[in-house]
Amino acid sequence: MDEQYDVIVMGTGLTECILSGLLSIEGKKVLHMDRNDYYGGESASLNLSQLFKKFRDGEAPTANLGKDRDYNVDLIPKFMMANGELVKILTHTDVTRYLEFKLVAGSYVYREGKIAKVPATEMEAVRSPLMGLFEKRRAKKFFEYVQTYRQEDPTTHQGMDMAITPMDAVYKHFALEAGTIDFIGHALALHLEDSYLSRPALETFERITLYMSSMARWGKSPYLYPLYGLGELPQGFARLSAIYGGTYMLDKPVDEIVYEDGKVVGVRSGSETAKCTQVICDPSYAPDKVHKVARVIRAICLLRGPIPNTDGVDSFQLIIPQNQVQRQNDIYIAGVSASHNVCDKDHYLAIVSTVIETENPQQEIEPGLALLGPIVDKFVSIVDICEPVHNGTKDQVFVSKSYDATSHFETVCDDVKDLYKRITGNDLVLKQRLTQEEEQKEMAGQ
Ligand SMILES: *[C@@H]1O[C@H](CO)[C@@H](O)[C@H](O)[C@H]1NC(C)=O
Repeated sequence: MDEQYDVIVMGTGLTECILSGLLSIEGKKVLHMDRNDYYGGESASLNLSQLFKKFRDGEAPTANLGKDRDYNVDLIPKFMMANGELVKILTHTDVTRYLEFKLVAGSYVYREGKIAKVPATEMEAVRSPLMGLFEKRRAKKFFEYVQTYRQEDPTTHQGMDMAITPMDAVYKHFALEAGTIDFIGHALALHLEDSYLSRPALETFERITLYMSSMARWGKSPYLYPLYGLGELPQGFARLSAIYGGTYMLDKPVDEIVYEDGKVVGVRSGSETAKCTQVICDPSYAPDKVHKVARVIRAICLLRGPIPNTDGVDSFQLIIPQNQVQRQNDIYIAGVSASHNVCDKDHYLAIVSTVIETENPQQEIEPGLALLGPIVDKFVSIVDICEPVHNGTKDQVFVSKSYDATSHFETVCDDVKDLYKRITGNDLVLKQRLTQEEEQKEMAGQ
C-alpha cells in the first residue's frame, strides 16, 4: 500500500462508498480501507454468526434459527424513498445494475392505541379509520393546497408564503385536529419530533410531496428495499469504484492519520503508510474530530411471523408518533422477511428504534416491542450519533455524520452532497432523471 493516492477512504459505510464511487468515476485514485472483514461498517448487514459475534461474542448462533447464510440482518434500519435522492444517485451511477429491489408492502401508523395503514390510494383514504368524515374533508383541502403550492408562483399561495409561515399556522388555517397533525407531521413528513412546527412550512411541504410522489410511483408504500439487505448498497458502490480502478482493503487496521504542516499526507497501518492528499472517513476513524449530538437505541428482534394488525404483510414500516406515547421522539419499527432474503423462511425481522431521552432506554422502546407479538430473540444496541466539529477544508480530512434515527436515506444523501462539495469544490450534479418508465425497467433489473 506504499503508494500515492488522491483520496484514502476509511470505513465502508454507505456515505463513504458512494463518495469513493463518485470520485473514482471522475478519475481520482482511491484507496478504500475498513478495519472490519466485511463491508458496510455501521450500516452493514450481518449473517447469524457475524450478528452473534458482534452482540454476544463467544456464543454460537441458536440452532433453530436456521442457516447462517439465509440471514442478512441490517444493523441500521432504513428504507429508500422511491422518489428520493438515493434512487437518483443509484441510477446516475448505474449501481442499480448490481442490485435488485422490492417494494416495502405497507406503511403503518399508531394512533390512539391502534395500528392503522397509511392510505396508499384515494379509495383507502376514504375508508381509512384515521379520520372522521369532516376531518377528511378538511385534510383533503390541506393536501390540495400542498399539491398545488409552488413557491415561485404566488397565484398558488392563497395569501400565505410558506418560506416564512410556520407549519403550525398552516395547520391552524385548515383547522386540522391534533391527531391529524401527528399523522401528517410524523407518518407523511417523517419528522422525528415536533420542532418543525415553528419552522417555515416549505420544508414540511417538500417532505409531504416526496412521500406522496414516492407512494404514487409504485402504489402500496413509498419505500424500496434491496434484496439481501442494506449492506448490498455500499457493496454496489464499492464494485463501481473497483471498476474505475479503486483499491479495496478489508480487515485492515488503521493506526494513524499522518499530517504535515496541518494537512493530511497519509494513513498508517502497522509499518506501512499510504500517501494521499485527502481523507474521507466515518466518525469511528476520527473520534477526536467529532462530537456527540444524540444517542439512539435499536433493538433487532427475530420473530416467528408478521406482527399483529399489519395484514400479514412481508415488510412494513410502522411509526409511533411521539405524542401518542408521551415522548419527544418517534419510535420507528421496520419489518422485513425472507421475501427480501434477509432471514430464513420461518422467521421475520423487526427493528425497533428511537432517539434516547432518558436513563432507561430499554424502557423507551417498550411501546414498540409490545406491538410485535412473541419475540424469539432480541439484539439491542445503543449508539452515539456523531457529527464532525470542522468542515475538513483546513486539514483535508472529511468526516461523515453517523446514520441518524430517520427511517430513510435522505439525510445520508444530504451528507454525501455536502461532503462532495467540500471535497471537490463543486456541486454534485446528477444526470438528468430517467423517465418513470426507464427507471422502473432499470429498478426491475431489465
Ligand atoms: C470551512 O470552515 C472554515 C472556518 O472554520 C470557513 O472559513 C470555510 O469557509 C468553510 N468552508 C466550507 C466549504 O464550508
